[in-house]
Amino acid sequence: MTRRKFLVTAAAGVASGMGLYTWRVEPHWLEIVRRALDVRGLPARLAGRTLVQISDIHVGTRVDDDYLLSTFRRIADLRPDIVVATGDFISHHAGSMDQIRAVYPHFPKGRLATFGILGNHDYGPAWAHPEIAREVVDLLQPLGITILRNEVREIDGLQIAGLDDFWARHFRPLEPLRRLDSGRAAIVLSHNPDTVDLDVWEGYEGWILSGHTHGGQCKPPFLPPPLLPVQNRRYTSGEFTLAGNRRLYISRGVGHLLRVRFNVRPEVTIFELRQA
Ligand SMILES: [Fe+2]
Repeated sequence: MTRRKFLVTAAAGVASGMGLYTWRVEPHWLEIVRRALDVRGLPARLAGRTLVQISDIHVGTRVDDDYLLSTFRRIADLRPDIVVATGDFISHHAGSMDQIRAVYPHFPKGRLATFGILGNHDYGPAWAHPEIAREVVDLLQPLGITILRNEVREIDGLQIAGLDDFWARHFRPLEPLRRLDSGRAAIVLSHNPDTVDLDVWEGYEGWILSGHTHGGQCKPPFLPPPLLPVQNRRYTSGEFTLAGNRRLYISRGVGHLLRVRFNVRPEVTIFELRQA
């Protein structure tokens, strides 16, 4: 074998190995990320409790049901106190509702509460079908997942505001944000991180938990991911400090659109609640 032929064969081997890894391994190689979540005014009885964020599950043809069910089991084993799902429960297709009926009864619940918000994909094609979102909500709520659509709920003194989806044009933050008592603990859920840059936050200070980006799904080492569905391209994944004493956490999500991930493993986040 000539040197040139050897190098070409070796390069082809590396490329096909990386392709196989990107397609077969990393999309299902879940990372459980453990972090502290410092919340101002957190009642003492919630200090040390856990809140699990699961995002962008994308039940649909391209995400393997067995992978999702094993992810749900791993979360249940963490025995979380609160579970929040930050949107994109489904990737809509003709059999979506049957798949939801099969998969979501196994969704892990929090000991105290389980909340969810909708993402753009929950509104079906072009994010333009509120009737699909309604059907998703009607299937999830009887399973014990309370879907917050521009609403606030309170659990043991912690206010949780769940905002509806921005791209689907159902994002109506003013009323729920005005309802939050700024003297007490609060967390806001908003699927699309671009929403943090809108002039709508009514003086809210604290954490905003998001998803939507999937971390870009593929990221060259030392460079930002090239494909991100946000206007503000800072918002990849992880923690960001924002103006107005707000902080943002973007989950890399559990599922995917195309089944490829490279250097952006899927994520479930378990936060330990702490008094700030
Ligand atoms: Fe998504």
